Amino acid sequence: MASRIAVFASGAGSNLAALLSYLASAGETVPGTVSLVASDRPTAGALRIGANQGVAVHTVRNPQDGAELNAVLSDHQITLVVLAGYLKRVPEAVTRRFHARILNIHPALLPAFGGSGMYGRRVHEAVLAAGVRVTGATVHFVDEHYDHGPIVAQWPVPVRTGDTPDTLAARVLRVEHRLYPRAVAAVATGRVSLDAENRVQGDVAALSSHATFTLSTEETPLSCAP
Ligand code: GRF
Repeated sequence: MASRIAVFASGAGSNLAALLSYLASAGETVPGTVSLVASDRPTAGALRIGANQGVAVHTVRNPQDGAELNAVLSDHQITLVVLAGYLKRVPEAVTRRFHARILNIHPALLPAFGGSGMYGRRVHEAVLAAGVRVTGATVHFVDEHYDHGPIVAQWPVPVRTGDTPDTLAARVLRVEHRLYPRAVAAVATGRVSLDAENRVQGDVAALSSHATFTLSTEETPLSCAP
């Protein structure tokens, strides 16, 4: 049965838009439908995008209140939760209930540059300050800690000389838009799952194989040559 997906977002909602368009082009094999968009910010672009596409939207009154969130998730019969730029910690009552059915995307290669306070522009500032040559995007299952659960997929993105936090954020975001819908679909269909020991199982190689494609066609290829 197709998953009923809730997207939680605090910001512009470009990852939500990417997911909606990916699902719209999936035809009869559609792995799920976005049935709810929830945000802690009444002005979030994500709520507008959801409403414009006829998706039910909900402004979260108290992000710490697991009962409120669980009630709205039940009302919409949600089976998979997708965090897309959601800046609040999801209460344990929700992460426990949706164990192995809740995903997040982070705009760096975890476990580096993640954790409390590491979001948005701050991530890319930290990447540039550290002088690393490669950053990327990480999709992971969500547990009760920030940016911590088992990793589903990662795509690398090169850091270029002269990058600013904004140029780097834009390059990573383009990769997020390609990676996240594919990872969501893989979990929605059960092609990727968590086992009893909390290890990611399934077709994870297929998800990350797109990384080579992305780097070689849209970005400066990462070279292994001397
Ligand atoms: C993305 O970079 C996501 O990785 C991060 O917040 C940003 C959200 O962007 N957690 P958008 O709201 O999907 O446009």
